[in-house]
Amino acid sequence: MTTTQQAYGEDNFGFSTEQVHAGEITGGDFGARITPIYLTAGFVFDSFDHAQQRFAGEDGGLVYTRYANPTNQAVEAKLTALEHGVDSLLVASGQAAITVALLGILKSGDHFLSTPSLYEGSKTLFRENFERFGIEVEFVTDPHDLDEWKRRVRPNTRAIYGETIPNPKNDLIDIDLVAGFAREQGLPFVIDSTASTPYLIRPIEHGANIVVHSASKFLSGHGASLAGVVVDGGNFDWARYPEKFPQFSTPTDGEGSPTLVERFGAKAYLEYTRSIIAGRLGPTLSPLNAFLLQQGLETLSLRVERHCRNSLAVATWLEQQPEVLSVDYPGLASNPSHAIAVKHYPRGTGSVFGFTLRGGLDDARTVIDAVELFSRMSHMGDVRSLILHPGTTSHAHLSETQRLELGIHPGLVRLSIGLEDEADLIDDLERAFAALRRTDALLERAQSVLPTPSAAAPVRTPVAPAPTPQSAF
Ligand SMILES: Cc1ncc(COP(=O)(O)O)c(C=O)c1O
Repeated sequence: MTTTQQAYGEDNFGFSTEQVHAGEITGGDFGARITPIYLTAGFVFDSFDHAQQRFAGEDGGLVYTRYANPTNQAVEAKLTALEHGVDSLLVASGQAAITVALLGILKSGDHFLSTPSLYEGSKTLFRENFERFGIEVEFVTDPHDLDEWKRRVRPNTRAIYGETIPNPKNDLIDIDLVAGFAREQGLPFVIDSTASTPYLIRPIEHGANIVVHSASKFLSGHGASLAGVVVDGGNFDWARYPEKFPQFSTPTDGEGSPTLVERFGAKAYLEYTRSIIAGRLGPTLSPLNAFLLQQGLETLSLRVERHCRNSLAVATWLEQQPEVLSVDYPGLASNPSHAIAVKHYPRGTGSVFGFTLRGGLDDARTVIDAVELFSRMSHMGDVRSLILHPGTTSHAHLSETQRLELGIHPGLVRLSIGLEDEADLIDDLERAFAALRRTDALLERAQSVLPTPSAAAPVRTPVAPAPTPQSAF
């Protein structure tokens, strides 16, 4: 017999127990202990009438994997339990999660406000793609200034968007403050919690309404597949604002039929986003990738704990190096976001952060080319440590002024600290910094033997012209 362990989502177990057991399907025909991969496009109907009932949603059974699949449902239940939400939807990537989460709320003609420091891919999605849908984004300049938030609200504002731990600058927002503002304005607060995971913070408990993740990152951990999730907190009163959000308060099948809120209560938003947005646009997560995500989720707390420990050690070491101008890790007492880190993230502030080298682009190039253990890669939250130069990769499409406004200096290097031994990571960076010192010493020697003062200007490697950059990774 097949059993689904939903009971673990009822807050009666600790995080580690829930990450292992919540949502799991056990039993089946062969007594399988692990939730199986149901690789099937559709589900058989017993009869003509049965098919009709399924389509009418009368028996709660499955119709087609684009709408729901048992493997995906098991993982969705686990994520709902971990985030303390009411329901979840898995999709094919983090970008898909952000897109469907917002399209579940917004339509052409709407406007939404966002915190300024976001994953660059979200910014380009909002500025370029959403703009083409007729949806306008506006970024506040100071997310700590409630007056600015208020000044920017318009009659057509329909949502607030933010991120828990933005990278590479880790300039944390006060989630309580932004959630309080959103509540006061009658606007849903959607937050990307990719870099924090529910192990470090559950944004719904701080008043956020919808949580999205790129589950390709920490939630999976292995870096083998992409996935995204939308979690509904069930804590936004859609029916209270029928003019702003008519999709939830309009009869679904003509006059006299129930509205989504009447049919699904606190899960109305997720049902709409599942059936009408994701179900029609089609960014379905393969059950195979849902299974891979499930395997990662079972060890989430252990991994994130180690990510945070390693990161604090590396950040502390970096801060002591004379070549380093600054380290953007809020776990450090010297960091401007440290007070919020203490308040919101007592278990740590994740493992994706930047540091800036005094020597600019040349120093960044030397360090990135010299590491052997770190992988030069655009990804994060992997068990492996990764290194990237945002200025010439993820943020290359911006002008230099725009990069500087975001704190992306030429010497900024982004790290995603993995689960290797802390001493080995520091040894690798030591090696890279030694290469930096050798390069600087050579330059000084070269300069001292050059004949004229004008020729003694530092000789640096010319920067190759950038190819047409992808808008963001
Ligand atoms: C914070 C954040 N959100 C969303 C995404 C997009 O996720 P995906 O690559 O799974 O589409 C990323 C990707 O790096 C990210 O860093």
